[in-house]
Amino acid sequence: MKIRYDLKPRSARRSEPFRPQGPLSFGQLRTDHMFLMDWADGAWSDPRIVPYGPFSLAPGAVVLHYSQEIFEGAKAFLHPDGEIYAFRIDKNAARLNRSAEGLCMPPIPPADQVQAILALLDVERLWFPQQEGASLYIRPFMIATQDSLGVKPSDRYLYCVFVSPSGPYYPAGFQEPVKLLVTRRFHRAAPGGTGAMKTGGNYAASLMAGEVAHRLGASQVLYLDTADRHIEEAGAMNHYHVTRDGRLVIPTFTDTILRSVTSESVLELGKAALGVETVQERIPFEPFLAGLRDGSIAEAGGFGTAAVVSAVGAYVFEDGSEVKVGAGGIGEHTRRVYDVLTGLQRGARPAPKGWLFQAPRVA
Ligand SMILES: Cc1ncc(COP(=O)(O)O)c(C=O)c1O
Repeated sequence: MKIRYDLKPRSARRSEPFRPQGPLSFGQLRTDHMFLMDWADGAWSDPRIVPYGPFSLAPGAVVLHYSQEIFEGAKAFLHPDGEIYAFRIDKNAARLNRSAEGLCMPPIPPADQVQAILALLDVERLWFPQQEGASLYIRPFMIATQDSLGVKPSDRYLYCVFVSPSGPYYPAGFQEPVKLLVTRRFHRAAPGGTGAMKTGGNYAASLMAGEVAHRLGASQVLYLDTADRHIEEAGAMNHYHVTRDGRLVIPTFTDTILRSVTSESVLELGKAALGVETVQERIPFEPFLAGLRDGSIAEAGGFGTAAVVSAVGAYVFEDGSEVKVGAGGIGEHTRRVYDVLTGLQRGARPAPKGWLFQAPRVA
């Protein structure tokens, strides 16, 4: 793919490494440029890096009415060798294409997605925050742009990637464990639906559940399946738990669970790197609860790109009752997973072959 560079004049771009004065929040800041590419007449065209800014969209664009939209989230890191490495973006590219298939959108060759991201990271290398624990969050997405009110797939699409210099998700190190609301009022996904796809509608539909969770003192919802029997997800993270006898269990990926790149990494790293066996199982909720009460389940939490690992300290019920996880603190296995994953992302530990994509120096 031949990328066109239509960059801001040098005088209008960042000219020195970014040294934030205070703590950087997550996902708020933008950089100078973004990557764009159009789809029409059955082909992708005009891949380009242009100044970051608003683009025009017809009020009748399909995405604005019927949510034909998909997105991804990944991270890149500045290593001690001064080079920039994106973490497992081939996995994100494959997942974007699976989401595309589900939403009747055109796939993008994974190598082109990887190239687009790395080219943008190269252009924005001075934007990497020179701050402990910081990273560049990467947001690729695709929207349906045809001006049409028929409920049918658009005949035009726009693919865009932008990046956000972000501070560590937990500025003070690993934060206090969070609480998850157990509710049977809300469900994230139904069999045959879009739960395994990363599409905006899933997240719009989760906002009310998140609000109710906040009102009840929880940071997110523990989603059960529509029969209220099995554990599915922890808000916008995959759920996990660790048993007292040393097994880290992640719910089996189904069509109602997003295939998390973080979870896949934990599963692949396994016992050799993490000190616990890592497995996937369907997890019936009632036995899980009994396990928390009798201590046979020692740790629980969520996996996702933004926080990497988020420990759960307690499950909260709508009647106000709570069930604690272990002693309610951060368990040793949770901490180990966090240390290992962040260590290899940041170049402090050797990463498995093929996990890190170095941005070439081209721009
Ligand atoms: C619903 C949902 N589950 C799980 C995850 C974690 O996936 P990943 O580790 O690829 O970020 C995310 C975030 O991307 C998510 O939105």
